[in-house]
Parts: sequence; structure tokens; C-alpha cells
Amino acid sequence: MSDLPPAHFRNPRARHGFRSRTCSITGVGAYVPERILTNAELERMVDTTDEWITSRTGIRERRIAAPDEATSDLAAKAAVRALEYAGVTADQVDLIIVATITPDMLFPSVACLVQQKIGAKRAAAFDLEAACSGFIYALEVGQQFIMSHTYDTVLVIGAEKLSSIVDWTDRNTCVLFGDGAGAVVLQNRQRSHGLLTACMGADGSKASLLCMPGGGSKIPATHDSVSSRLHYLRMDGREVFKNAVTAMGLAAQEVLARCDLTMDQIQCVIPHQANRRIIDAVAHRLGAPVERVYMNVDRFGNTSAASVAIALDEAVRGGIVKRGDLLLLLVFGAGLTWGAAVIEW
Ligand code: UT7
Repeated sequence: MSDLPPAHFRNPRARHGFRSRTCSITGVGAYVPERILTNAELERMVDTTDEWITSRTGIRERRIAAPDEATSDLAAKAAVRALEYAGVTADQVDLIIVATITPDMLFPSVACLVQQKIGAKRAAAFDLEAACSGFIYALEVGQQFIMSHTYDTVLVIGAEKLSSIVDWTDRNTCVLFGDGAGAVVLQNRQRSHGLLTACMGADGSKASLLCMPGGGSKIPATHDSVSSRLHYLRMDGREVFKNAVTAMGLAAQEVLARCDLTMDQIQCVIPHQANRRIIDAVAHRLGAPVERVYMNVDRFGNTSAASVAIALDEAVRGGIVKRGDLLLLLVFGAGLTWGAAVIEW
């Protein structure tokens, strides 16, 4: 017999009497810039090969935003598509949360810029920063506002223009990242598409494994900071890889246990799209068959907070996810941070 307590004690929604209200995802949307940067082009920029990039990461191409296209532009386009899908008008939105590490500027927030761009005049707006884990962090935060009856309609967006912080002379990182945005609309609906549970985790002792040292209050922009290339993303890829596999595996087990589910009951796993080898390793650890794991890392690379949101939009609109399916979302990123969520579609 299991040592675990009965399911209704483990399911936090059941425990807190949340069953009376459901947080549903009523709309999905995504936007990626038109410009495609291929591995062949990268071969001409740094000392790399298509063969290395494809075999070590699974990435074949990524999207790059236009010079005059900022994160808020990508976010607003994804948001409009999610609102259309949900049949919600911008003035019905109560709150906008944008997860990003590449805001248009340090302040004001991208969320405020999106509020203006889509005309969501009534909405409160703020950004949330949990790097590549940002979308699930934002989903969990947005859910709290729905469950607590504070708001009826919350727009959650993951959006990044990573091309603006990538060091295009560093072959270790520049081949990995891309730009894009994904969005969902959260509302209280009884029928389906419900977010069953989500978990979040962090380990700040490993902050230096993946960071951008310059541009904040510790190292403000100076000629020195620019010439020392401190305004670019830096990563110890090998260490991040190991931590990602462990953390996403454990996060998945936690949310499945909370919902009293096993892996064979999950129809679609949507992991953070950083590296095909990381995804394969996590799937193997969880015993998830490869055909149930959604992947688009080959076309978009790592789009950080946008990654799972773009993949969810594709899986839903592409008919891969069907009504009643159980989905497992997994994220991992700088911080370190990680998270997982179970959705009943
Ligand atoms: O979004 C969350 C955060 N990001 C991630 O999850 C990314 C996590 N890490 C990774 O995906 C992988 O660690 C990388 C793709 C970054 C690197 O793959 P790896 O198998 O861990 O390679 P490595 O770092 O062990 O490097 C192997 C070799 C090195 O050469 P030496 O030192 O063995 O001579 C690198 O210099 O590959 C070299 N290398 C490259 N060679 C050609 C690194 N980047 C490239 C490149 N082209 N672009």
C-alpha cells in the first residue's frame, strides 16, 4: 500500500476547496518573427557546423525579430491571437502578466506596453522574471487571481527577443536561442481546459550558471561593461544540462503525484524546448513515449519564457491535443528555476 496520503489530501485544489471554481485556459496564441536564421548562416558567422548544432541540440533554424520589433510587439501579436481564440475582447481583460528576461527596457514593464498596444484599458499589468521557467510561473500566478475570485480574465504571455542579448561571437550560446511569444487566456469556466495543478522551484545558489551580468544595479552599463561583453547572456551549458534533466524530472513527478496520475495517463508532454537531448533524457527518465512528447525545438530553438507557450499553441491548433487529454508542461531555466503543470484539456 502507498505511504502517500489519499489523493484529495495531495491535490491542493481539493484540499483548499477550490473545486467550486476552475481556472481554464480558454485561449491560446503565438507569434514568431518572419526572419529565419538557419544553421548554414551560423556556419558563416562563428566556428560551427550544421552537423554539430543538429546532433548536439536538435535545432535546425530559429526566428529572429526585426531591428524595430521589440519584445512587446511579439507579445502583443501573440496576445491578440489568444484573445481571438477565446472570443474575449481586450477590454474584458482584468490582468496582463508577461514573463520575460528581455523586456523592451528596464522599465516600464512589457505588460504595460502590451496593455497599450492591444487596448486592454481596464487591465492591471506587470512583468514576471523566471527566465525559461517564466511561463509556468506566470500561469501559476495568474491562476491564483482566478481561484481567489480577484479577477475573471487574465492574459498570461511568455515573450522574448533573445537575439538582443545573445553574443553573436560566442558559438557556445549563439546557436541555441531564438525570438518569439506565446499567450494564453485564463478564465473561470466549469467545463474543461482546466489547470489542475502547478509547481515551481528555484535554487539561487546556482545563479551564475546562466546569467547576464551587466545592465542591472550591480553592474550598470558603462564603456567598460560594454567592452567586457557583460551585457550578453553567459552559460555553463554542461552544468545547466544536468540540472535541467534532474529538476524537470522531479517537478513532473511532483505534479503527477499531487493529481494521483501516472505517466501513462498523460496524452501529451510539452517540455521547455532548449535542446532535443535534454527533452529525450527527461522523457526517458519519466518513461514517456517519444510520440507523446511535443517538440518544435528544431524550428524555433530555445525561446525561453515563450517556449512552452508557443508549443502549447501549436499542439492545440494542430489538433495534437484533444478535448479531455491530460497535458504535462515542464520548464527549466536560469535562477536556477523550474516548474511543472498538469492541464486537463
Ligand atoms: O533554457 C534553459 C537553459 N539552457 C539549456 O538548457 C541549455 C543546456 N545545455 C545544452 O543544451 C548543451 O550543454 C549545449 C548544447 C550548450 C552544449 O552541448 P554539450 O554536449 O554539453 O557540449 P559541451 O559544452 O560539452 O561542448 C563540447 C564541445 C566543446 O569543445 P571542447 O572543449 O570539447 O573542445 C565546445 O567548445 O563542443 C564545442 N562547441 C561547439 N562546437 C561547434 C560548443 N558550441 C559549439 C558550436 N559548434 N556551436
